[in-house]
Amino acid sequence: MLPLLCCFLSLLTFLVHSCLRPWAPAKNSLKDEKEIDEGTYVVGEEETPKGLMREQMPRHVAVIMDGNRRWAERAGLLTSQGHEAGAKRLIEFAQLCFKLGIETVTAFAFSTENWGRHKIEVKCLMSLFQHYLKSKIHFFQSEEIRVSVIGNLEKIPESLLGTIKETEEATKSYKKKHLILAIDYSGRSDILQACKSIVKKSQQGLIREEDVNETLFERELLTKCTEFPSPDLLIRTSGEQRISNFLL
Ligand SMILES: *[C@@H]1O[C@H](CO)[C@@H](O)[C@H](O)[C@H]1NC(C)=O
Repeated sequence: MLPLLCCFLSLLTFLVHSCLRPWAPAKNSLKDEKEIDEGTYVVGEEETPKGLMREQMPRHVAVIMDGNRRWAERAGLLTSQGHEAGAKRLIEFAQLCFKLGIETVTAFAFSTENWGRHKIEVKCLMSLFQHYLKSKIHFFQSEEIRVSVIGNLEKIPESLLGTIKETEEATKSYKKKHLILAIDYSGRSDILQACKSIVKKSQQGLIREEDVNETLFERELLTKCTEFPSPDLLIRTSGEQRISNFLL
């Protein structure tokens, strides 16, 4: 019965959202992307583009991955292909940042508000995240990229949670490059959970009012997992100019 139901859902998805093309991990991620966009910008190991000073590079760049669907629509592709291309492009973007000496890249992959999207698209995205992480673990290891996931994660499917743990565990010892994926993240919820944690610690007598300052607060935020918790630069692709409750 269950497989039948799944089949029916799949068909429905395909018709309604054109979003259930099975996820096919790229075998050769960096090369494949060239086909998607000739504008690919590759920087050599020591090379810094003209006009940019390595010592003035941001330490932490955050990116809101927006416009995948619109891009796919314009290119006459399926929504899933848009998300897929976006996921591949993220890796390229992060690699470029790391080469330029930017140590931390945080990508807003799924906001708490995104739960409001069509159920089937959400399901698609969750399975995309899982396949994405699974297929990239070896890549992250060979490139020595630490991967962390921040967010509420309460509604995240069990299997994806397992893959997240596995990826974090497999890459946790790397220090120089840090890729943070914000999934089910909300800046306001993050501030709220930080406040609650501080109140709790205060009630337990662990901190006093005068101890509460920016440093302490920063340590309570989910972004504490990185050495540079506050981003110096936020990029939103697609041309929209909203922060959408990201790293407030
Ligand atoms: C916050 O307090 C701690 C401990 O007193 C101190 O080390 C730190 O520099 C303070 N941070 C700011 C931003 O004032």
